[in-house]
Amino acid sequence: MSIITSDRPVGLCSDHAGYELKSIIEGYLTSQNIIWEDFGTDSTDSCDYPDYAHPCALAVENGSVYPAIAICGTGNGIAMTLNKHQGVRAALCWSTELARLAREHNNANVLVLPGRFIDPTVALDIVDTFLNTEFEGGRHQRRIDKIPVG
Ligand code: RB5
Repeated sequence: MSIITSDRPVGLCSDHAGYELKSIIEGYLTSQNIIWEDFGTDSTDSCDYPDYAHPCALAVENGSVYPAIAICGTGNGIAMTLNKHQGVRAALCWSTELARLAREHNNANVLVLPGRFIDPTVALDIVDTFLNTEFEGGRHQRRIDKIPVG
């Protein structure tokens, strides 16, 4: 079942290495009548992923977007940045199985993709799985409650 809510867009952010895949995903979301909000970057010009990850993470935390999709070359830098935010659970996924488990077990609210290491067709399957898998709750809720610090 879809985790998309009709009143909130899906957030997207990337650096230059994720820009092209982000554009493909935006086209896919539009084709599915899913609204989205893009926090940049807006070209393949070299840039710094935290400049786009932090605004997207803040929007996830304040509830103005849900969920979000983030992309850099490896996925690591942007995931590290997003996960500095206490209200963010960003999951780096390169298979549909990882995306399913990130939702079922971790209630991930940001899907992170490695733009330079993933085929766009696989990426769209991962997006589809992430957006259509619900959190299982139960023992997993207890565990994610222990993640935040401070
Ligand atoms: C950019 O060259 C690259 O370092 C970035 O996209 C990402 O892979 C960092 O983690």
